[in-house]
Parts: sequence; C-alpha cells; structure tokens
Amino acid sequence: MKNLIKDLVESYGPTGFETEVTNKIRTYIADKVDECYVDALGNLIARKKGSGKKVMFSAHADEIGVIVTYIDDDGFLRFSNVGGLNLLTLLGGRVRFANGVIGVIGKEKGELKDLTLDKLFIDIGAATKDEAQKKVSIGDFAVFHREFADLGQRLVAKSMDDRIGCAVLVEAIRRLDHSDHDLYFVFSAQEEVGLRGARTAAYSIDPDLGIAIDVTRTGDTPEAPRMDVSLGKGAAIKVKDSSVIAHPKVKNLMVRLAEADQIKYQLEVLEAGGTDAGAIHLTKSGVPSGTISIPCRYVHSPSEMVDLDDVENCVKLILAICRDSLDEF
Ligand code: CO
Ligand code: ZN
Repeated sequence: MKNLIKDLVESYGPTGFETEVTNKIRTYIADKVDECYVDALGNLIARKKGSGKKVMFSAHADEIGVIVTYIDDDGFLRFSNVGGLNLLTLLGGRVRFANGVIGVIGKEKGELKDLTLDKLFIDIGAATKDEAQKKVSIGDFAVFHREFADLGQRLVAKSMDDRIGCAVLVEAIRRLDHSDHDLYFVFSAQEEVGLRGARTAAYSIDPDLGIAIDVTRTGDTPEAPRMDVSLGKGAAIKVKDSSVIAHPKVKNLMVRLAEADQIKYQLEVLEAGGTDAGAIHLTKSGVPSGTISIPCRYVHSPSEMVDLDDVENCVKLILAICRDSLDEF
C-alpha cells in the first residue's frame, strides 16, 4: 500500500491535467473491473457491474497548483493559484511543471503580514525573458515539488489531498470480493476549483447513493483550531462541511457498518471546505450522499500527513458498504 501511495502522490496532476494520475490508477485496477473509461472532463470511471443499487464513490485525482500569468524581462514568473493555497507554505518551496522544469518561489521585500500572492514570483533559473520562455509559457501549470516521506505509521507528501483518497479506492477495488451492487469508482477531475468533474460524472451515472472519499482537517496539533478529528482515531464519517450536510441515511449507514465490523471511526464536522459529495448530492433530483474522510494534517501544504491506520479503516468501511444490502436506498 505504501508503494501505491508513493506512486500516486509523486505524480503530476494539477487541476485539469489529471491524465498522468488517472493513467497510473488505470494500470492498478483495469483487470479488477468490468469497465474503465475516461469521460469528456477527464474523470476516470471504473465500473463493477451488479444488479443492486447504483453506488458512486468519488475521490479526486487533481491536486492544487499554480498557473503562470506573466513573465518579466528578467525571467521571473508571476503566477496565480489553482485551488486554495496558503501563501506562507509557499515560501522557499519548489514547484514542478509538466515538462520537468523546477522553479523556486521567492518574495518581494515587505512584511510577512502584508504578504499577498502578487508579491511572490517563481525563479526557474532563467536570466532573461527569452530564456524563461524557452522553458515555460503563459498558462503553464505547476505543482509542489516534494518527495514522499515514510515516517513509519505516518506518511507525508504533497497531494495527499486527494491521492490518498484515490489510493483508498484503488485498494478497495483490489480487495473487493463480492458485491450485489452496480459500483462506480470515480477518480474525479477538477475538484479543487469547485467539484467540477464529480458534477458531470454524477449526472451521467445518476447513482442511488453517493460517497466521496477525501481528506479532512484535524484538531490534534499544538494550538490547533478546535476540531474533534485526530490522526490515528479512525475513518472520519462526515456530518457536515460547507458543501454538504451528509444525508442522515448515509451517515447512519456508515456508523452502523463501522460499529458492526469494529472499524475505528470518528465523526467529523468541518467548518470550511467541501468534497465531491457537495456536487453529487445536488445531481438531477438529488442523491443521498456522504463522505468518508481521511484525517490529514497540514492540508493544502506541500507536506500533508496521514496515518496508515486511518487509511486502512477507510478501505474497510468502503468494503463494508459494498457488501451491505443497502436496503434503505
Ligand atoms: Co483540497
Ligand atoms: Zn480534496
């Protein structure tokens, strides 16, 4: 599982450019599913056919990144964010473009408290505008450049949001022995800019039940905002975030299954942030939806940390859902 996670988190997949990620995922699951295809927006959709309920699981393949907006005469790049970026975590960091070009993020003079995105720039080692333009163009996307780190029980990488969700789904597909249901596993595109891939995927699938798999924040670091989610305390069953109020039937199903199978879980209320469930539940005439969250420290930084036990519990909860009769849907 650690190798799978390392492979996925070190891939290049900014929003809108998920192909490297979805190609890799396809190689892991192709022989385990009945159908596997990429739709118009770039969602990878894997289906395991069944005659029961139509269930859509969704983990997003994209990661936050930056986009080049301007190249100055001295070869420095100005950029905008693609997805939510914390400016302080950018300083001194490195980014990587699709063609492998590496850039360092620097800042203009001024107090940190006055820091805004337009005071930052990317230095790709070019001395002139011409030289820079040979390496990158306006509109090129880059992602954090950071290797995976195995701390034993805990793992750190860029893009745990949401490659760890992708890894959880891949692992569930690989372990799935039996289900009566018509299962759709979506590795969605463009979540970080507004749940866009999940919206079209849900429209075409039209599921009876929707479940997003994504990271959530924790309240377990020094002087963290008060939040009752911790690394290592199990799969987080979402009650509410700013994109969705989990359907009580979905939330209760997950709690019931976790208790029956002794899967470690915690309940989650995330005050700001959303997941693919936010798009899925508003599809057509409405879809009962919920989210299984992997607790994650330092979300949207280049060093997002998860606990392997939580990952395992999330896999188990998905498998329990696939095996259940789902009579209430
Ligand atoms: Co995110
Ligand atoms: Zn996410």
